[in-house]
Amino acid sequence: MDPKELLATYTLNYLRGKKIIGVGTGKTVKKLIEVLSSEENLKESSLFVASSIDTEIELSKRGFKVLSLFSAIQPEIYVDSFDIVTKDGIMIKGGGGALLREKLLAYFSKYRIFIGESTKLKDTKVIDIPIEVISVGVSYVKYKLEKMGFTVKIREGSGKMGPIISDNGNVILDVSVKTENLCEFDRMIKNIPSIVETGIFCKELYNKIILANEQGRIEEMDAGDGI
Ligand code: 5RP
Repeated sequence: MDPKELLATYTLNYLRGKKIIGVGTGKTVKKLIEVLSSEENLKESSLFVASSIDTEIELSKRGFKVLSLFSAIQPEIYVDSFDIVTKDGIMIKGGGGALLREKLLAYFSKYRIFIGESTKLKDTKVIDIPIEVISVGVSYVKYKLEKMGFTVKIREGSGKMGPIISDNGNVILDVSVKTENLCEFDRMIKNIPSIVETGIFCKELYNKIILANEQGRIEEMDAGDGI
């Protein structure tokens, strides 16, 4: 079975009956929204808060009611995916460039679950961390991080010349970082002017990570479990 489909079906049990649901961004989340679209109760009785324009379009298209992030209504639950989870239980997000709103919703929501294929559990020594930067500060931030010894790439897309621009009008850098002390790195670089947010999600930002593999095995990990 496709692990994304399995995760989506499994996640339904967490979402049924919830009135305000925050939703992440990416292919895993798209599969979840597709699976949710046959849940008439969720369409009628629940309101959704999207972490990106892409997710908002996807939800609206399938008939879900979407609240603006400006509404400041606390989601009862937030569901999203991730690019990598390290063996220490730290997630890296932002492959889809939505890290700022995703982190905002993860902080704001009462309960947070992150779903992904087991292959996203990685034991690598160096990871590319997405970092959202106010555009006018990009050259300075790049200079500063390179001076600190990091390798920095400005993220570019296709269909547009130059940097991709996030839903918040900012630029995304991908910075190569050793996996020791990722949460310390996250705190430290926030002191550099123009850095808005990083894609490092430490344990205080989730309650549960749910992994699924191609053999249909589901594994749940709580923030306190360690991995
Ligand atoms: C977007 C994200 C996504 O959750 C992450 O990139 C995983 O995406 P996918 O489900 O496509 O593998 O952080 O900013």
